[in-house]
This record gives sequence, structure tokens and C-alpha cells, in this order.
Amino acid sequence: MNKIKIIQGDITTLKVDAIVNAANTTLRGGGGVDGAIHRAAGPELDVACARFHGCNTGEARITPGFRLPARYIIHTPGPFWQGGHHGEAQLLHNSYYNSLALAAQQHCETVAFPSISTGVYAYPLDQAAEVALTTIADFLKNNQVVQTVFMVCFDPRTLTAYQQAYQELNR
Ligand code: APR
Repeated sequence: MNKIKIIQGDITTLKVDAIVNAANTTLRGGGGVDGAIHRAAGPELDVACARFHGCNTGEARITPGFRLPARYIIHTPGPFWQGGHHGEAQLLHNSYYNSLALAAQQHCETVAFPSISTGVYAYPLDQAAEVALTTIADFLKNNQVVQTVFMVCFDPRTLTAYQQAYQELNR
């Protein structure tokens, strides 16, 4: 039975098959979790990312984890919140779905996500959590490769939002 685990922590420390990076469309690093992952993975990551010449919002690209404990890093630019009428929910769904599809393709059994778009990109946390967990739960129902998905919340407010969204999902 595959499952979703909601935890608090620093995604760069997790020894899982793949961690997901909340990137931007240049894929050349930035602040937030993107900056933390690039710092922890080391300079080879930027060299690997440069080869993609960017990535559209909602799409995903995979690289090795380099100095991280994780085998792979999956990079996906989530949507920037513009009020909710610019396809943001669909694009956020795409980021989670395409990241999981890429993970399954690379035979990853354990995958860790940060809370995509809810930092610098200002996506409302409760709405993002609902999109994230619904997408992940639906994907897990129809795939046998990915066994466990960790939602890695960096702070207590994010943890509470995902725990509440998870309870709603399983009501
Ligand atoms: N581990 C897990 N989660 C983290 C970590 C970490 N080490 N560092 C930050 N986070 C959390 C943030 O607290 C937030 O909950 O990741 C979530 C996503 O926030 P951001 O990193 O700001 O990402 P996002 O909102 O998707 O904005 C992406 O920010 O860093 C730039 O280059 C990035 O332009 C892109 C934009």
C-alpha cells in the first residue's frame, strides 16, 4: 500500500530516491529551497541544469543528486500566484504530476516534495496543499512504482496546513 507522509524538516537532508526542487524557469538556482538544494548538492548541479536551457512552469527535469543523500533531484518551476485566474491550480497540479511521472520513470520508490509555490511564489498555502495532496493521492492510486511520498514542510505553519488538507482528503 503506497502512502503519503507529512513531515517537518529540511529536504536536503533526506536519503530518498528523489527530492523535488521548487525551481524557477531558468533552472539556474535562486533563493528558498532552490538555493538550499543548489548549495547542498554542490557546483556540479548548476552545470547539469545549464544543459536543459530552462524549463517551462509545470514541467519537470531530472538530474543526479550529486553531494546530496538523495539519488536524484527533480526540478519543477511551480506557478507564481497571480490571483487564481491564470491557470495556477492546473500548473501546480502539473508540477506535482510531472515530477511523480519522472520519478516513476526512473524507478524511484521514495520521493520527497517541498511545498511548491507557497514561498516566494506566494501561492495561498491551504489551496496549494489541497492541490498537492489530491494530485499525489490520485497518482499513487494508479502507479505501482512510487511507494512513499514525503511532503517535507519547512515550518510549523506549513506542516499544519498540509496535515489539515490531508485530513480533509481522507474524510
Ligand atoms: N527544505 C524544505 N522546504 C524548504 C526548504 C528546505 N531546505 N527551504 C525552504 N523551504 C520551503 C519554504 O519555506 C516554502 O514552504 O519551500 C517552500 C517553497 O518556497 P520557495 O523555496 O520560496 O519556492 P517557491 O515559492 O516555489 O518560489 C520559487 O523562489 O527560490 C526561488 O528560484 C526559486 O524563483 C524560484 C522561486
